[in-house]
Amino acid sequence: MELKDAICRRRSIRKFKPDPIPEAYITELLEAARLAPSGTNIQPWRFVVVESAEMKQRLAECTLGVSFIARAPVTIVCCADLEAVETRPQRIVELREAGAFVGTDFENVKMEDYIKQGEMDRNAARAYVTLNTAIAIEHIVLRATDLGLGSCWVMMFRQKQVKQLLGLGDNIVVVALLPIGFPDQDPPPRPRLKLEEILIKRV
Ligand SMILES: Cc1cc2nc3c(=O)[nH]c(=O)nc-3n(C[C@H](O)[C@H](O)[C@H](O)COP(=O)(O)O)c2cc1C
Repeated sequence: MELKDAICRRRSIRKFKPDPIPEAYITELLEAARLAPSGTNIQPWRFVVVESAEMKQRLAECTLGVSFIARAPVTIVCCADLEAVETRPQRIVELREAGAFVGTDFENVKMEDYIKQGEMDRNAARAYVTLNTAIAIEHIVLRATDLGLGSCWVMMFRQKQVKQLLGLGDNIVVVALLPIGFPDQDPPPRPRLKLEEILIKRV
């Protein structure tokens, strides 16, 4: 499928066929996430694939009435690792070795100066890893569309409860739940703002 088609055809799908998702598709979805871009290439995204009927039901109970999670063949619990921010020095070395900064002002910047400039408190780090993880999540969503699957971002869940259910550590932030399966609905496009409403100006 062309990228434009995937972007246009994607819908939030809330009704799924019971058919299982082929194992190779799960790998493809995670691979789409793995290839996403991230600030300083920190790649903070982490995933839990929830497939068992019992766990899906218990996960649905951690949401604010999002019962269709229990009926999706798979839900990917999309997380961000706060500790990924600490890996920036190592990531910069890798990027430099890979030639990412050749010909840019960044080529000769001292790593310590860069890290110092970008120092973050825990709130800033949380916002940063969440932003980066959202990109990976949307990669999964679009690749799912490409594979004929449907999905729906779900953020209406209780953070503490999901973390407890899945035994996730203090360093992990659950960003979104992503129920996925073959769609059992074919909804028309949802309302959107017009281009004129989103373009502030061209200068
Ligand atoms: C960050 C984010 C959070 C969302 N959270 C939920 C949610 O908790 N429950 C739900 O049913 N849909 C959720 N959605 C889906 C939106 O309702 C949906 O994207 C929007 O209404 C537009 O519809 P469309 O995705 O079909 O184009 C979420 C979407 C995004 C991007």
